[in-house]
Order: sequence, then structure tokens, then C-alpha cells
Amino acid sequence: MVFLNGKLLPIEQASVSVLDRGFIFGDGVYELVPVYSRVPFRLDEHLARLERSLGEARIRDPYSRAQWRGHIYHLIDAQAFDDQSIYFQVTRGAAKRDHAFPKGVEPTVFMMANPLVNPPQAQVERGAAAVSATDNRWLRCDIKSISLIGNVLLRQLSAEAEAAETILFRDGRLTEASASNVFIVKRGVIQSPPKSNLILPGITYDVIAELARANDLPIEFRPITEQEVRAADEIWVTSSSKEVLAIVTLDGKPVGDGRPGPVFRRMHQLYQEFKKKVMRAGKREAVSAA
Ligand SMILES: Cc1ncc(COP(=O)(O)O)c(C=O)c1O
Repeated sequence: MVFLNGKLLPIEQASVSVLDRGFIFGDGVYELVPVYSRVPFRLDEHLARLERSLGEARIRDPYSRAQWRGHIYHLIDAQAFDDQSIYFQVTRGAAKRDHAFPKGVEPTVFMMANPLVNPPQAQVERGAAAVSATDNRWLRCDIKSISLIGNVLLRQLSAEAEAAETILFRDGRLTEASASNVFIVKRGVIQSPPKSNLILPGITYDVIAELARANDLPIEFRPITEQEVRAADEIWVTSSSKEVLAIVTLDGKPVGDGRPGPVFRRMHQLYQEFKKKVMRAGKREAVSAA
């Protein structure tokens, strides 16, 4: 079952107008929330980021926070599988093609649940390859926009090199990767670029920061040069589906000793423990009656 504009229905019956501005202009925003044992992970943080993306894109938020939660819980409960990836998007709606905002148009809301695919254990243990590229995307990478052609073209570079990610540099500095944030470790210090218009403020990025601080692992947010990335002891990519994954080669050259490093192994363990704690608590916030 999928969710379209307030209703749950089989995917075959879900359709939107060809004039939808999501289809015509990529004029919309989205979120992706991992669900473990039917408990959404960091749902409120994802909803807060959605509200921010909608505000920056000047798209009306069709639901209150409590209504969003209610619709998401219903969608989770309508699936046969427990570990899910909930994708949801809001577009500016369907209207005659014109760049300027249409008047009096309802936003289109679509949500679907897919089985959650986290990196296989072998990849967690062995690490993954990445390639690098120039970050040639627009200057509002902080908005989680559905206009992803820049990210798609960049990700394809790593797909064609049989690598897991494309790590991006803009003006000689690390930004993020095509679908994840990037951390490096040098002499035991975890480092990542600060939040700005050039990167997506990752929910997993925040979890990593919280776990590091709670466990006395040194962490710094500051601009990082391309040379620093290439000389790092460890490189990690983080996202809701990749969680935290070690990058062991960059452009074919080994990172550190070419194996997932000790700080990665510790952080991966902390992340798994934290997830289990959240699942055990099994907390679902209040939903509105509406
Ligand atoms: C460009 C980009 N950066 C970072 C992330 C990581 O964000 P999160 O941890 O919220 O999944 C994503 C996730 O899809 C992304 O597409």
C-alpha cells in the first residue's frame, strides 16, 4: 500500500497528473526515514527537516506534525515487513505549465514504504570504494529537493566505477557525497564540514555527532581540504540507509591501511547499540485525531 493525498491505496491504483510540478519541474521536496521493527528512527527530526525544506521552497505544508506522524504510522502498519524505508515527497501540485507559482493549487503528497536495505555485513567489515568528483550542484544543497539530476549524474560516476559513493569537492574543499554526508578521521579526531548551504544537514550526521560527544570521542566541524581527505586515516559516509560505512579506497588508492579503521568500528558499534535502544523503547509519539 502507498499513500497519496490522504488515502492508502495499492501502488497500481496510485496516479498523479502529468502536469504535476514534481514531474514537470522537479518542484518539490522529500524525506526518507528508516524504520526498524516498525519503529521510525528519528521521525521528529526528519519531520522538522521536511518543514524546513518546505519553508525554503515556499511550498505550503499540507499537514501538522501530528498529522504527518499519523499518516506515517498508518503506512508502516499497512506493510507486511518490519524493517522499512519510508519515502515521502511533497510537490507544489498540478497546474498549467508556468515557472511562477500557481494560485490556489493543493500540494501533492506521496509516500511509499520499501524493505529497508542496510549495507550487508561483509561490506561493513571490508569497507567500500569511493571515487571523487567536482561538486557542480546548485548552491542550495541544504534543501532536500526532488530535483536530483546533479546528484544522479554524480552517483552514476561511482556506479560505473563499481564504487559505493562519489565524494564531492567544491573549490578545493570537501562538501558531502552524492547521497550521504562524509566524515574523516585524522589522529583519532573525527571531522566533517560544518552545516551550510553546500551540504544536506543529515539526520545521521547529527546522530554521529551526538554519539561521539556522549562517548568522549573527539569531533570537530570545520572546513576540510581535499588534501586532508586524501591524507585521512579513515573516511566514512553516513546516511539513513547506509548508516555509517567505511570508505577504504578513494579513486583506487587505499585510505589509511585500506581497511575499516578503529574509530569507524567503535562508531559503527555505538550506532547499532543506539538503534537497538530506540527500538526497545519502541516509542511512538502522539498522533492527532484529524
Ligand atoms: C546529498 C545527501 N547528503 C546527505 C544525506 C544523508 O542524510 P540523512 O542522514 O538524513 O539520510 C543524503 C541522504 O539521502 C543525501 O542525499
